[in-house]
Amino acid sequence: MPTFMTDGDLLLRLEPAVEENLTRHIAESDDWHPHDFAPWDEGRNFAFLGGEDWSPEQSHLSDVEILSATVGVLVADNLPAYHRELARALTGLGAWWKWTGRWTSEENRQAIVLRDYLVLTRAVDPVALERVRMEEMTKGYDAPSLHVLDIIAHFAIDETAAALRNTNTIALGGDEVLAKILTKIAADDTRQASFYVNIVNEAFGVAPDQMARAIADRVLGYAIPVVDLPSKANSTEALKDAGIYDEDQQCDKVFKPLLERWNFFGRDDLGDEGKKAREELAHLA
Ligand SMILES: [Fe+2]
Repeated sequence: MPTFMTDGDLLLRLEPAVEENLTRHIAESDDWHPHDFAPWDEGRNFAFLGGEDWSPEQSHLSDVEILSATVGVLVADNLPAYHRELARALTGLGAWWKWTGRWTSEENRQAIVLRDYLVLTRAVDPVALERVRMEEMTKGYDAPSLHVLDIIAHFAIDETAAALRNTNTIALGGDEVLAKILTKIAADDTRQASFYVNIVNEAFGVAPDQMARAIADRVLGYAIPVVDLPSKANSTEALKDAGIYDEDQQCDKVFKPLLERWNFFGRDDLGDEGKKAREELAHLA
């Protein structure tokens, strides 16, 4: 009879794996710096300091690139809200806490570089962008509080999805500097996804049915972060129309590869509850 493990049990049992994976994550990380990717010589003052204010013709990015970078910066700008949720659920033990700090600092790096780039190159209206940032952060990350296994499954999915959006934008072959920035961000997201993938695999070893349940719930309930764009368009619809992210890509390039990395359909350690969860995802086998 499988024993139900509480979040407290799981945090404790998984902590050595978190420590080990955090150490590996840092060792494998590319120590890139946002200032290296900001084209400072393109920057000039706005009217407040005697220069010229933004106007649409100053942007040299395609609409799709503007959309992708704007979604990226707004999601990253909402970081304190995500951090708040992680800090609430993963606190109390050293390695989890260190990971939360590391992840937050990497996400912040993404917000810094994208914002510097967009403002310096006058790719977007800085007033509209700032207004939306304030609204996003005030609204916060409005989702029900999750348990530990749901969090690790959710972020394995979310980081894989983020990397895919950035990779698809790079593939458009547009602005070279933006492509370099998105390459660094996608690599960070891929490494972060691997961290969560590994912790999920570790959790299967201690609570297989609970882990299978959490994966089924998170896959079936997953939606990429939605932000209100300055244009007021729905970001998920806009990304779909631009070919950057849609449900078919999500199935083939996010869900299926992750389920494979967890050997979700080949596991022999699941009880009745786990098998039931697995059946719910049979369409992804
Ligand atoms: Fe990320």
